Amino acid sequence: MAPHARAVGPFPDGVDPDEYDRLRRRVLWKLPTGLYLLGSRAGDRRNLMTCNLVSQLAMEPKLVGVAVERDAVTLGLVRDGGSFALALLDREDRAVVRVFAKPAVEDRSTHTLSGVAYRDAPVTGAPIPEIAAAFLDCRLEREVDLGSHVLCVGEVLAAGFGERGEDAEILRSEDTRMNYGG
Ligand SMILES: Cc1cc2nc3c(=O)[nH]c(=O)nc-3n(C[C@H](O)[C@H](O)[C@H](O)COP(=O)(O)O)c2cc1C
Repeated sequence: MAPHARAVGPFPDGVDPDEYDRLRRRVLWKLPTGLYLLGSRAGDRRNLMTCNLVSQLAMEPKLVGVAVERDAVTLGLVRDGGSFALALLDREDRAVVRVFAKPAVEDRSTHTLSGVAYRDAPVTGAPIPEIAAAFLDCRLEREVDLGSHVLCVGEVLAAGFGERGEDAEILRSEDTRMNYGG
């Protein structure tokens, strides 16, 4: 993670801003999160992006939210396509999250993104990696500007499990040494 040039406030009274910044980050990193691939598509342009700032937000309607960096390729595709597909991963496939920490290279002839085979989600057509343990196919319901990130709120239009079925062990951030957020 790139070190911040300047610690972000607010700060409690009397603390050293840099020291507090490091402490606060370590606490925020402890928030339990999953580790996902976010599929986006606008026309023929597709991308997969590693993300962990993800949560279900409402039950009626069925809403999930993903916070996407304002400069990410993914944000443009989610906006233009009006959709996204969230892929849950098997713990065994943890290596793939490193691949999608940068924009994917698409090969339409082989239906791969950075060498990982994908299929199109059933309703929106956003890409879902073939290795996905489960997926949520979502329509972009709204977006909320949060500063560094834009919260993309999606309504779930379709959902399903992958080949290994419901018993697959789902990847969580704690299964890797990577930290994001904080
Ligand atoms: C463990 C991990 C978790 C990440 N979580 C998020 C996230 O929740 N939101 C986000 O915008 N970027 C996240 N990133 C960074 C993106 O994966 C990376 O910046 C991305 O490839 C840029 O998106 P783009 O390909 O759409 O340009 C995470 C990276 C890692 C390594």
